[in-house]
Amino acid sequence: MARTVVITGTSRGIGRELARQAAARGDRVIGTQRRGPAPEGVELRLADVTDPQAIGALARSLAPGPVDLLVCNAGIYLGRGRIGEAAFPPEAWAQTFAVNVAGVFMTIEAMLPLLERAERPRIAIISSQMGSSARARGGAYIYRASKAAATNLAVNLSIDLRPRGIAVGAYHPGWVRTDMGGSGAEIDPAESAAGLLARFEALDLSRSGCFEMWNGAPIPF
Ligand SMILES: NC(=O)c1ccc[n+]([C@@H]2O[C@H](COP(=O)([O-])OP(=O)(O)OC[C@H]3O[C@@H](n4cnc5c(N)ncnc54)[C@H](OP(=O)(O)O)[C@@H]3O)[C@@H](O)[C@H]2O)c1
Repeated sequence: MARTVVITGTSRGIGRELARQAAARGDRVIGTQRRGPAPEGVELRLADVTDPQAIGALARSLAPGPVDLLVCNAGIYLGRGRIGEAAFPPEAWAQTFAVNVAGVFMTIEAMLPLLERAERPRIAIISSQMGSSARARGGAYIYRASKAAATNLAVNLSIDLRPRGIAVGAYHPGWVRTDMGGSGAEIDPAESAAGLLARFEALDLSRSGCFEMWNGAPIPF
């Protein structure tokens, strides 16, 4: 039976390629975007992840489920640079945490009843190794703090959702050639997405709470 996969932020970049590849392997894929069109073979739901009403409507449109895999991919990267050289205004903090942290949590919370109806439900949070304190390099404080929070969310939810049979993982997609990663990045979205989809396949309760690279290497947190 085809699995149902929900991916946030499929308008471009890694999310678009994840959706395209999952649809190509035969999954039913629902992509959430702020604007269309969806990738080929992907069902479009218009939703901004910072809008609780839109997230609620997304969940209602898919009720009663099951949803086998939820991928929280939508993200933004504001405030590049180092203190003294770049600006880090309060609006950038608020907007980044609204998308990269609260948006992830609200999406998961809304989708839980649908995930619970799956045989082997999984949640993948696209975080970043830039949120790892063990790999701190300075700069980009807003983004790094938001991704540290996103990974922290994955670890804590893995504890609370274990009794409900739901596995949760956090993933670094690599440094990827997208609008966010830039043209000088190391890998293309196709390579990242293929690696990530393989990691999501490997995710089960024994691995729940993991923080991994797109190629499976563990990341110290
Ligand atoms: N690229 C990298 O090297 C890299 C490295 C580490 C982690 N990541 C993470 O990987 C994920 C995808 O990154 P990417 O490189 O593909 O970035 P991207 O090319 O900038 O695409 C970001 C996606 O997120 C969506 N999005 C942003 N804010 C949203 C909101 N409020 N509601 C719904 N969708 C929203 C965008 O939609 P719109 O088109 O509407 O803006 C777009 O589809 C992000 O979480 C990012 O932090 C990327």
